[in-house]
Amino acid sequence: MSAHTEAQPMQASKSGPLKGVAEVPGDKSISHRALIFGAMAVGETKITGLLEGQDVLDTARAMQAFGAEVTQHGPGAWSVHGVGVGGFREPVDMIDCGNSGTGVRLIMGTMATTAITATFTGDASLRKRPMGRVTEPLALFGARAYGRQGGRLPMTLVGAANPVPVRYALPVASAQVKSAVLLAGLNAPGETMVIEKEPTRDHSERMLLGFGAKLNVERTGEGHVITLTGRPELRPQTVAVPRDPSSAAFPVSAALLVDGSDITVPGVSQNLTRNGLYLTLVEMGASIEFMNPREEGGEPVADLRVRFTGDLKGIEVPPERAPSMIDEYPILSVIAANATGKTVMRGVKELRVKESDRIDAMARGLEACGVVIEEDEDTLIVHGLGAGNVPGGATAKTHLDHRIAMSFLILGMCAKKPVAVDDASPIVTSFPIFVPLMKRLGATLG
Ligand code: S3P
Repeated sequence: MSAHTEAQPMQASKSGPLKGVAEVPGDKSISHRALIFGAMAVGETKITGLLEGQDVLDTARAMQAFGAEVTQHGPGAWSVHGVGVGGFREPVDMIDCGNSGTGVRLIMGTMATTAITATFTGDASLRKRPMGRVTEPLALFGARAYGRQGGRLPMTLVGAANPVPVRYALPVASAQVKSAVLLAGLNAPGETMVIEKEPTRDHSERMLLGFGAKLNVERTGEGHVITLTGRPELRPQTVAVPRDPSSAAFPVSAALLVDGSDITVPGVSQNLTRNGLYLTLVEMGASIEFMNPREEGGEPVADLRVRFTGDLKGIEVPPERAPSMIDEYPILSVIAANATGKTVMRGVKELRVKESDRIDAMARGLEACGVVIEEDEDTLIVHGLGAGNVPGGATAKTHLDHRIAMSFLILGMCAKKPVAVDDASPIVTSFPIFVPLMKRLGATLG
């Protein structure tokens, strides 16, 4: 997102029952990867259902700067003419990844084993986020990074002229770091290994196999050991991007919270590395039917019928579930505020280094709306007030974070008094049609 976007205050108030079909846009993680893997294949990759959110558009622009031809043919329909593994050219200008941690970290990985230099920057949110978690493993390949104090952007990365393959055990559960190492490993001769203790989203592994890379995943006592053979020739693919379960979480949650609602959300991913929120909602007693299970774009999906559930119960979310629902804790904490009893979320310190410090942003906003919160570095506890009992009547700060903005707007749809956000503009990064889609379902937003 441009650093100069003007703040857009927005307010949501008690809404009529939500009804209808919520067709959410394409998956953000898969959209970034479709563009990046397309750029590393030789020939033309065709993409349908691409998320045209600002984060993904910034990655498309970056792929052009590195020499790929990226063309839009119609809504969601794009093609990428790739330059092949190791074929990136040196960009002539700074690469601006806007608000996107996924964009910058995956692109850094992709260029780290090619003998070119690039400088990366982003908006005020991205410039605060730690890049050391990717530049440390990329240094093992032979790349060198020169950033601001604390490993922050802007940062210049000098790709390795003679890369060597690496064996890297992830110190944090992060699909971005895992993917950066795998992307760097593509242009290193020999076998690159990544070991993850807890499984994180596996889209890179699935897509690398689809594009023809040699990749093996083994479950051992250490966790998942992923072995990639370097210097493959990636074959261009046709990629049908499935809908984003992290975006679907917002209309699903709104329907659970707004009295009388009954909606259908088609094509929601059931990928086990992404479905933690849905398991949690079912445990809380949510009325969700998983209909018509099938495969779309290489991912297991189902159509969700979601009905208002007035008696959701607070639960203790198993900490080992965190990687499969890491982006969903902000909206879960809104659900928790409308459940009875307390919801305990432990093992969530990664939330502190997302687009904002999400524990702090949710805690302060919920407190302003009359909800009792307990928190420590790695924990968020929400004391539920029961369905429709959150007082509201406050303005939450969104800190350039799309998921904080959408979460508080959903709270406003079921709280006693309206809830406002100081800036809804970041929503375009992941869910550009959020406002019209929610209004069509019956939300009072504006
Ligand atoms: C993503 C990984 C996660 C997630 C982000 C998308 C990805 O980040 O929060 O929205 O596409 O790989 P981390 O790798 O920091 O956990």
